[in-house]
Amino acid sequence: MTRPSILVTGAASGIGEAVLRLALEHGTTVLALDSDPQLPARHEGADGVVPVVVDLADPDATAAAVREVTADADLAGIVNNAGIGASAPFFETGLEVWERLHSVNLRAPLVVSAAAWPRLRKPGGAIVNVSSIHGRAALAGLAAYSASKSGVEGMTRAMALDAAPYGVRANTVAPGFVRTRLWSDWLDPLDDETRSGEESSIRAMIPLGRPAEPAEIAEIVWWLLSPASSYVTGATIQADGGLTARASYRPNH
Ligand SMILES: NC(=O)c1ccc[n+]([C@@H]2O[C@H](COP(=O)([O-])OP(=O)(O)OC[C@H]3O[C@@H](n4cnc5c(N)ncnc54)[C@H](O)[C@@H]3O)[C@@H](O)[C@H]2O)c1
Repeated sequence: MTRPSILVTGAASGIGEAVLRLALEHGTTVLALDSDPQLPARHEGADGVVPVVVDLADPDATAAAVREVTADADLAGIVNNAGIGASAPFFETGLEVWERLHSVNLRAPLVVSAAAWPRLRKPGGAIVNVSSIHGRAALAGLAAYSASKSGVEGMTRAMALDAAPYGVRANTVAPGFVRTRLWSDWLDPLDDETRSGEESSIRAMIPLGRPAEPAEIAEIVWWLLSPASSYVTGATIQADGGLTARASYRPNH
């Protein structure tokens, strides 16, 4: 009997890699998509990982790769996790940046899910799309990123309605700060004093007082893929340590 499998995009690092590890612990095969050319070498000889190197910004290559890798799979779920950031005010956001960001963050989840749909379309199937707190609450400089993540949330609600008649669910996870490459890329280059100041001001803003570990986000993704969440569809789960629960005009309350 074929092992059940899930397809995970952005599986080479951060949240996607944590989902990959959790799925392997549960005996689920991972069809792991990423543009990172090191991905196959990292899983060489490993049981249960099928690495596929593809640029998700290229819709034709992505659809072809997804059709090929899912062709014989007993596909139980799709995790559209890969994402990129960009920061510039809207009046300085070049269309090239806008297009690249939307092609990876918003268009790829549609392309991947549509290409895998023939294999997923059965009761119990699930799609989990990864958004961000910036899908709901913006910061200056995040016009392109916030638009792509709000788009993911809106698209997921519509996907849930399209998929429901087939017994397939679709949900979004919207993380806040997660201790991934983004976190270390930002903090590591700073000198000790600046780093510690930045880190404590972020911690003070988060009601739970810390960023999430990637494994904590992976647990939510796994729950949304599993029958334990069988009545949840079209939802966005904020996984932000309470960051967006608090009114910002009294930051310490
Ligand atoms: N880390 C955070 O604090 C945070 C917060 C909110 C939302 N998110 C979202 O979570 C998701 C995962 O983020 P992460 O922090 O784990 O990031 P990460 O950079 O550690 O991992 C992203 C992965 O996506 C892959 N990827 C990027 N562009 C790609 C492309 N064109 N084609 C194929 N693969 C590509 C990268 O190679 C990488 O392996 C993203 O959608 C991000 O927007 C992250």
